[in-house]
Amino acid sequence: MLRTTHCGALTLDQLGEEVTLAGWVQKSRDKGFMLWIDLRDRYGITQIIFDEERTPKSVMEQAQRLGREFVIQVTGTVIERESKNPNLPTGEIEILAQSLTLLNQAKTPPFTIENETDGGEELRMQYRYLDIRRTPVRENLVFRSKVSLAIRNFLSAHDFIDVETPYLIKSTPEGARDFVVPSRMNQGQFYALPQSPQTFKQLLMVGGMDKYFQIVKCFRDEDLRADRQPEFTQIDCEMTFVEQEDILQQFESLLQHLLKEIKRVEIGAFPRMTYAEAMAKYGNDKPDIRFGMEFAELNDLAKNKGFIVFDQQELIVGIAVPGAAAYTRKQIDKLIDWVKRPQIGANGLVWVKCNEDGSYKSSVDKFYTQEDLAQWAKASGANAGDLILVMAGDTHKTRTQLSALRMELAEQLGLRKPEEFAPLWVVDFPLLEWDEETQRYHAMHHPFTAPKPEQIDLLETNPGAVNANAYDLVLNGNEIGGGSIRIHDAATQERMFALLGFSPEEAKTQFGFLMEAFQYGAPPHGGIALGLDRLVALLGGQETIRDFIAFPKNNSGRDLMIDAPSPIDTAQLDELYLCLQPKEE
Ligand code: AMO
Repeated sequence: MLRTTHCGALTLDQLGEEVTLAGWVQKSRDKGFMLWIDLRDRYGITQIIFDEERTPKSVMEQAQRLGREFVIQVTGTVIERESKNPNLPTGEIEILAQSLTLLNQAKTPPFTIENETDGGEELRMQYRYLDIRRTPVRENLVFRSKVSLAIRNFLSAHDFIDVETPYLIKSTPEGARDFVVPSRMNQGQFYALPQSPQTFKQLLMVGGMDKYFQIVKCFRDEDLRADRQPEFTQIDCEMTFVEQEDILQQFESLLQHLLKEIKRVEIGAFPRMTYAEAMAKYGNDKPDIRFGMEFAELNDLAKNKGFIVFDQQELIVGIAVPGAAAYTRKQIDKLIDWVKRPQIGANGLVWVKCNEDGSYKSSVDKFYTQEDLAQWAKASGANAGDLILVMAGDTHKTRTQLSALRMELAEQLGLRKPEEFAPLWVVDFPLLEWDEETQRYHAMHHPFTAPKPEQIDLLETNPGAVNANAYDLVLNGNEIGGGSIRIHDAATQERMFALLGFSPEEAKTQFGFLMEAFQYGAPPHGGIALGLDRLVALLGGQETIRDFIAFPKNNSGRDLMIDAPSPIDTAQLDELYLCLQPKEE
């Protein structure tokens, strides 16, 4: 080994010992007669001191020539520091250098490699290996490894078997576009990278594996956001001979275990909410329930009072913003502008201030009496000092808009506390969703999800009303997992494909293998997949998953470090029988 210990280990206990450390020069301070270096490795920082009187002259001179990020090996004695640093585990000691070996030089890095950096996002992604040297990034990766290991241990202890499934597969419809890979050996044909191992894990159940898990990369060509990457990792699981309740309990106990192990937080039984309730109360199927501001539907109280703008609307809905009655006109106008932005697309906001003296002041005082507004306040749970904000319009759109406002206000008011954890299950999702554009039904989860058995007959008469045996696991306003009980008989699966607009031939071409498997004694089964990146980020108190992925892509799906995607040469294209044609204008 090039070292006897690492840069995070030494304390006063090792006083007087001779040690050898290796690492990167984070910083040096040169006073001429004395020079200090902060030496960094994965484990921490140790201060090295070079002193004219106690360090050999040649070593001193060598140290003076070191630049930032040079890689060195230092041997010296552990001594007590004069000015101690209580913020560092090694802050009570320093190493009095006796010898120094330069292991490698370094160009001046393009940004400061310290906890706080001056490098912009793009620059840090381009030099990700340097960013990883920074403590916050490194700690995120170490944290991810710890969470993964805890998950593996838990699932193994519960008899789940880790099985790898292929990456070069045939498209599985999970709602996003596929990334495709041309096949050289099969001219004009393509593999798809899995959006998830969905059909494979079901086939493993047909194969009798009973309980499967895999921490697995999935690929989806969709628009990127803070919580979405084109390649991401799922904790993918499937179980045989189970009902919805068994899965909810199994994975509730996994999350409880992680919260306890990793965060020392004990959480009892998770609340459960139907999809319909989540939409009505929070306008969202992944509600953040760390704070209130629940929706109050005001149709009965606000219609037919002479305010014709409201009279024609399908839904009038409001929220009480705690302590915001003191907002100035300017602050309220800012909120109105915020909801009118194209990203939200609302027409405006009606506001009611619940004054401390029990009176109300609103933007619609002309139409509503103090008694009317008192009823609005009661319905929305507003107290004196609160501000009620009301929106109106089409039900789904208005709920979505108010939900965005609710989250924005909670952020502004500091109600989304990162170290508070509020998981819940959202259940009873609709099986299908109507797509206006294509004028047909889409599977809300995926085509393999089973309808509620008692509603199966509705599939013919009123498919839109059928609920699924599907569930999402939600944490702090983020969907961290989703799953369902699956269809396990060929006849129901065929019916489902037909409802989704597949002809029998299309169904056979795409999923013949699954329907055939279902004819050989497929057991009842179901499962779930959790998003590892999201879970780790949330446990780490953040919502941007990029910060917890070693080599993430930017918002245009590019890896800036290796510069991918990139063109390939003509010979390679020819070999794959691909011909690029410029798109006609
Ligand atoms: P679903 O599509 O809900 O279900 O995905 C499961 C979980 O994966 C995470 N996730 C993502 N994370 C980061 N970036 C993305 N682009 C991304 N897309 C999804 C989410 C999500 O809850 N086969 C089914 C599971 C099943 O039915 O068992 C599936 O993939 O946290």
